Formats: sequence, C-alpha cells, structure tokens
Amino acid sequence: MIEPQPTTEAAPAVTRRSVTDAESRAASRRWWDADADDYQAEHGAFLGDTEFVWCPEGLREADARLLGDVSGKRILELGCGAASAARWLAGQGAEVVAMDLSEGMLRHARTASDRTGVPVPLLQADALALPFGDLTFDVVCTAFGAVPFVADSQTVMREVARVLRPGGSWVFSITHPMRWIFLDDPGEAGLMAVQSYFDRRPYVEQDTDGVPGYVEQHRTLGDRVRELVAAGFVLRDLVEPEWPEGHTQVWGQWSPLRGRLFPGTAIFVADLR
Ligand SMILES: C[S@@+](CC[C@H](N)C(=O)[O-])C[C@H]1O[C@@H](n2cnc3c(N)ncnc32)[C@H](O)[C@@H]1O
Repeated sequence: MIEPQPTTEAAPAVTRRSVTDAESRAASRRWWDADADDYQAEHGAFLGDTEFVWCPEGLREADARLLGDVSGKRILELGCGAASAARWLAGQGAEVVAMDLSEGMLRHARTASDRTGVPVPLLQADALALPFGDLTFDVVCTAFGAVPFVADSQTVMREVARVLRPGGSWVFSITHPMRWIFLDDPGEAGLMAVQSYFDRRPYVEQDTDGVPGYVEQHRTLGDRVRELVAAGFVLRDLVEPEWPEGHTQVWGQWSPLRGRLFPGTAIFVADLR
C-alpha cells in the first residue's frame, strides 16, 4: 500500500506571526542593507541632507523643537539611516553620535556627510545593546528608527534609559499604532478597518521556507506608554502631526487622503526621572 506523503506547503509570503529577537534582527539587517539605495533614492530628497524630519507628514525639528535647545548637548540618534537628523543637530551645536544596524544605511550616511561637509561619528550597532556607558547622553532620538523593528522594545527603552543622564530626553517617532487596523494602502482601500488593533503579532514578509525578510512590530499606544514608564520615563507629550495643507507627497501608506482623516505618526516625548 502506498502511504500518502506529507505535502510541504510553501509558507505564506505575508503573515502575522511571532518572531524571535534573533529573527527580527537578522531580517532587519538584511532588509535595510538591501533596501538602503532604494530608500534613499525614494525619500532622500524629502528628508534632506541636513534636515531633521520626524515623519512623512513633514514635521521638522527646526519647527517643532521637541528636543528643546540642543546646543552643547550630547545626543545619540538611533536607527539613523543616512543620519540627516544627526547632521542637523550638529549644525545646531550638539555633540552627536549616529548609529544604525545597517551598513547599507551607514554607507549613505558617510556619503552624505562627505557631500555636505558635516561629519558626524557613525556607529554600526543594535539598539538592543547600546555600545555606550551609563549616563553618556542628554538626549536620545530617532525618526522611525529601530523601535518599530525590534521584538523586545522594552529592552530598547531600558537601554536608552541606561545611557541617558537623569532628566535626559528620549524622543522617538513611529507609525501611529491605530494605523495597524488598516491595510497598508495610501488609497481608498486603506480607509476600512480590517484588522484588530489588539493583535500584537508582528507583520512578517517571509520566503517560501518561512524565513522572515521584513518584520515590523506593533504595540498599542498603552503598551508604548507602559514600556516607557517601566523604564523610568515620564511621558511629557504625545505628538500626532496633522497632514499639512498643500502637502501632496505620498510615502508608502501615508497620503493626503488618509492624513486628512486620522494620524499616521506618533511621536513620544519622554524624560528620564
Ligand atoms: C525607516 S528607517 C529610518 C531611518 C532614518 N531615521 C530616517 O528617518 O530616514 C529605519 C532604520 O532603523 C534601522 N534599524 C532597524 N532595526 C534596528 C536596530 N535593532 N538597531 C539599530 N537600528 C535599527 C534600520 O537599519 C533603518 O536604517
């Protein structure tokens, strides 16, 4: 008698499932190394070489001043990409270090520093294990870097708290958590709630063997607040930038259509107790 053979089904290309820190880190490193050229080609002009842009809504630190007066402050930019924010901070008189997991992104940071003549120290490292001593910085910041891509974001909060001086600030932007109830679509299809806000399983793109190639993590607003508080921070502000009149540029799922109706970015402004 011929036994039925188990069929090996290909893993779905896109899914929601839990992943380990190691899987998340490996996927992020591969993804951002491979995507660095495309990311900078697509968004580099919008981000500018020496601008600090918090989000696709175009909010600039020059206008928002979420970090306060940065002159003379020691600042770490996490998940810096091409490090344009770090160069803006350096131009404001800050003593800044920029770090990223991806060598591909840091290559763009080096090129942009050469192009602009604004050098900033660059470091390849993981936000889960910051290679700095305790009490090193006055401010840590990131625009969409690291936080959305790590499985264990509580450890990132603790690491940031460790390297900050008491009273120091931690300011980070992420996709607004409520966006997770919608499809990742800038058009009409992205206006209908189709997923549970409370489903914390990450979004995973994977190959046919189930090896993650892109991983993005979801936490609710309350989760983020609790992570901050548990690490010793006091939340000073939660900025939800509105879509500006006349801003027509679409960035992935961020569009004027959706931006008019609900927030796309959340910026957490926290101080260490
Ligand atoms: C969406 S990009 C943002 C880059 C830049 N901040 C900007 O505004 O263009 C996310 C960045 O986070 C970095 N990243 C992802 N996981 C990281 C980790 N665990 N530690 C440090 N950086 C990480 C990526 O390499 C990538 O450069």
